[in-house]
Amino acid sequence: MFDRVDYYPGDPILGLMGEYAKDTNPNKVNLGVGVYYDESGKLPVLECVKTAEQHIANPISPRPYIPMEGLPGNRKACQELLFGKGAKVLEEKRVATIAAIGGSGALKIGAEFINEWLPESKTYVSDPTWGNHISIFEYSNVPVAKYPYYDKVTNSVKFDEMLAFFETLNKNDVLILHPCCHNPTGIDLTQEQWDKALEVIQAKELIPFMDIAYQGFGKDMESDVYAIRKAVDMGLPLFVSNSFSKNLSLYGERVGGLSVVCPTAELAERVFGQLQFTVRRTYSSPPSHGGRIVDIVMNDEALYDQWVGEVYDMRDRIKAMRLKLKSVLEANVPGRNFDYLTSQNGMFSFTGLTPEQVERLKTKFGVYMVGNSRMCVAGLNSSNIDYVANAMAEVLKD
Ligand code: LMR
Repeated sequence: MFDRVDYYPGDPILGLMGEYAKDTNPNKVNLGVGVYYDESGKLPVLECVKTAEQHIANPISPRPYIPMEGLPGNRKACQELLFGKGAKVLEEKRVATIAAIGGSGALKIGAEFINEWLPESKTYVSDPTWGNHISIFEYSNVPVAKYPYYDKVTNSVKFDEMLAFFETLNKNDVLILHPCCHNPTGIDLTQEQWDKALEVIQAKELIPFMDIAYQGFGKDMESDVYAIRKAVDMGLPLFVSNSFSKNLSLYGERVGGLSVVCPTAELAERVFGQLQFTVRRTYSSPPSHGGRIVDIVMNDEALYDQWVGEVYDMRDRIKAMRLKLKSVLEANVPGRNFDYLTSQNGMFSFTGLTPEQVERLKTKFGVYMVGNSRMCVAGLNSSNIDYVANAMAEVLKD
């Protein structure tokens, strides 16, 4: 019976981690997966997380099942970060929030909800987008298509084309949007562009599904959720998936959340019940450890402030790496424009390298990027940046 099972060629992003681990090149550099490494090339454990871990370990407590929707303090943290402490929409109890197994888990539960309760809707993702957006929605039987987004000639958003495309969509079609640090391009809408896009979304009665995995890595905690809060102010129905993988450096704990903003408290309660039911049928209830860390860090003023500072340090180090890489490349490859390196936001930079150049970087230099030319700038540090810049310069000259 297993003869019929298809071969899985591997994931274009996570698969690179395995290839990188096996590579024996002593100079290898991992710029593939979206993970922040510090100046010494290590995955950091944030100081605020260390404190939270000490609370959890002292004393070591029993591990009961937690509710299907996750820990209350974890859910409150998601809500306050996204919508603002004391936000009217929270006071009105119009947001149904569950803690989820990472941002991917939040997308999956959201996709299942859309499949069940909005069966006529089609979901649209930016061209390009994070590949798993498409996989998760299609695997939940939601039809997925693309909307115009990235203009590789001007290295900006095809804004007018995108809006004109939104105008052609049907009521209740779902748009997956990246409120900040667009993955994979690093190119975000400006606040003025968000205002215009949300007006079209409202006029056409489309449903935004905002996926935010990098809050704090763009401009700052508040500006990065501009689009979310604007959509709420406009009274739009809204899905938001969020992740703490990057901004708490808690990748393996799989902590995220799904929030659905509804027109009334009564509807939010019904939606919440359906989200619980979907969780129950999928994995029953989430694990508790990561949720406890989120709860402890986000609900303690001093730890929260420390956390924000630590996120901004990560953000600033990435920005410094962008500047440095740009100047080394400009010196080594005259005549080519590298402005994109500093105009893009967050962890990623779309380098415009061809698939052959990306492959050569990997095989000849042990420098790993995603095949679509996405580089995780957060993997650069002062010890490897010259090596990477020279390797890029080499393949660009070939
Ligand atoms: C990425 O885009 O590299 C990260 O979000 C990790 C992943 O799961 O793909």
